[in-house]
Amino acid sequence: MYGGGSIKRTGLYDRVKQSLLDAGLSVREKGGVHPNPEVGFIRELIAEAREWRPDVLLAVGGGSVIDTVKAASMGIPYDGDVWDFFIGRAVCEKATPISVILTIPAAGSELSMRVVVTNGEKKLGTASQHIRSFMSLIDPELFFTLPAVQAASGVVDMMSHIMERYFTNTSDTGFIDGQAEAAMRSIMHFGRIIRREPKNYSAWSQIGLAGTFAHNGFYGLGQEEDWACHGMEHALSGWKPSIIHAEGLAVIIPGYLAFVGVRNPKRVAQWARNVMEVKEEDDAEAIREGIARLKAFYREMGMPDSLTALGAGDAPLEELAQSVTGGKTLGHFVPLEASDVLTIYRSVYQAEV
Ligand code: NZQ
Ligand code: ZN
Repeated sequence: MYGGGSIKRTGLYDRVKQSLLDAGLSVREKGGVHPNPEVGFIRELIAEAREWRPDVLLAVGGGSVIDTVKAASMGIPYDGDVWDFFIGRAVCEKATPISVILTIPAAGSELSMRVVVTNGEKKLGTASQHIRSFMSLIDPELFFTLPAVQAASGVVDMMSHIMERYFTNTSDTGFIDGQAEAAMRSIMHFGRIIRREPKNYSAWSQIGLAGTFAHNGFYGLGQEEDWACHGMEHALSGWKPSIIHAEGLAVIIPGYLAFVGVRNPKRVAQWARNVMEVKEEDDAEAIREGIARLKAFYREMGMPDSLTALGAGDAPLEELAQSVTGGKTLGHFVPLEASDVLTIYRSVYQAEV
């Protein structure tokens, strides 16, 4: 499986195909996965794959290709419709094994147990141990051809995967906190280098490893995770699939931190001091400065700074806030009501002048 054609332009397609054929394997292929993959395409793939009866599904690409393969791997041995897994109507009990050749370090799907798929305007995720890739190849040289916006998006996304776990109310998490804080600082450090030097092998090797670890579950060990920002973002890129996942996150996260920083300040201040290296004693002041530094980092990475800059100025925010909370609350660090989600969306509607 591959995406819209980047692997043909870079020559990776020929290399992979030749090496599979050289190994004596029989190969069927399918390309054309779009970013923010659609369930309709996955249904087609499942129908075709049932005829091929593959032993292994190989994803050559990023999160969108990997998630397409993961969804198909659940759907192939399942009697019903693959969307059932995303709406809680079915639980994955077996899946066709998958493996990955990663071309963009970002979503962390190459080692995560999660899969995210769009159906119309709804973008939903589900998780299963059965869909973890049994082998993922992460070769920094494959990242040299990434467009600047995708490279920067990957950096922002992987950092957010750690933040979603770091903002927790679970106590006694000091060991993981320290690892997470160091990882977030490293991601910003190496992220800045690849922004300036898109062919820096050494920096890409660190970013590749960081992206995979960020989402393999390690930074959430033993603690309750949050995931409110991903929920709020998925509502946006579900509504408009041309929105890049990380660009949506970069808009939402500063608004989210300002909101939760007032209601649950201790941990947000800890993040400001230990990750953003703010030297303020007062918590509120530390949080304000930490958010300002995060926004400056996002600007350096070329991220948009408001819903209007993201191209979501006309998004039906009330509707999205309702759908993302689904009559309940979103996230755990500060459980958000639909009205809170709306407040956060509105707080990032336009950039401050
Ligand atoms: O389609 P092609 O032509 O290959 O181009 C892709 C695509 O346009 C291009 N690209 C990838 N590698 C390249 C390259 N271009 C040049 N050289 C290379 N080496 O990059 C574009 C983006 O690819 P995509 O796979 O969409 O990126 P990403 O890895 O950021 O995946 C995003 C998707 O993953 C989901 C997102 O919601 C989104 O649907 N997520 C999945 C997660 C999971 N399964 O655990 C967690 C994440 O939080 C995320 O939600
Ligand atoms: Zn993400």
